[in-house]
Amino acid sequence: MRLTENIYLVASGWQWGFGLTDAIDCNVYMINTGDGCVLIDAGAGLAAEKMDAVIESEGFHLADIKAVILTHYHGDHACGAARIQGAAECPVYAPAKEAEAIACGDEEATSLAGAKGVIYPADFQYPQCPYGVTGLEDREELQFGNVTMKMFMIPGHSLCDMVISTVIDGKKCLFSGDAVFSGGQIMLQSLYDVQLYPYGEIMQELSELETDALFPGHGIFCLEHGNDSIKKAADKFAVGLIPPQLYYFV
Ligand SMILES: [Fe+2]
Repeated sequence: MRLTENIYLVASGWQWGFGLTDAIDCNVYMINTGDGCVLIDAGAGLAAEKMDAVIESEGFHLADIKAVILTHYHGDHACGAARIQGAAECPVYAPAKEAEAIACGDEEATSLAGAKGVIYPADFQYPQCPYGVTGLEDREELQFGNVTMKMFMIPGHSLCDMVISTVIDGKKCLFSGDAVFSGGQIMLQSLYDVQLYPYGEIMQELSELETDALFPGHGIFCLEHGNDSIKKAADKFAVGLIPPQLYYFV
């Protein structure tokens, strides 16, 4: 699904998204950088042929993927990366604090173990990336073709989510993973690594980026006024409250 001239939605499950691919896939965005494509997140890796078909339908191939950037280590975002890396022989990037758990497929650290047979199939396994995972630090920048991406670490939804700020097709874009969703919603789960501080403080910093287009890991994206959603979440945190839970999960 083409969203802007150079941004595509290539996976999204029907449970919490647009029903393009496997039921539990997060939103996977593909950016045409002018020198190959970059994927933001990778989906769960189930029914991967559906994602391949979407990419092909847009005129691209797995071999065009130059990098996979994972916003966090949850399986519905990260478990598709190993197969893509094997096929495209490309680097996989992730927040430094979560990279090791992704690289070794640590099902306890990533909270996959407790979700098997609930969200994931009972026999689901966290696959290891064949060429490893490169950890990124706060404010680190990556350049792909004519696209510069700046990473922001935002502990809260998981140990350390990473959101990606960039300018594409003249729009300030934020790929927000599960850190913040359209409408200013967030998603807190009763998991060991969830934390409210400094979640709110960093949300305030994100609201100062004046984002146009917000591309979250689940639910709807928004091509204009993305900052309104970020600001809504930041404002709730700022007065000591918790932003509303992502509507799929209430
Ligand atoms: Fe998540």
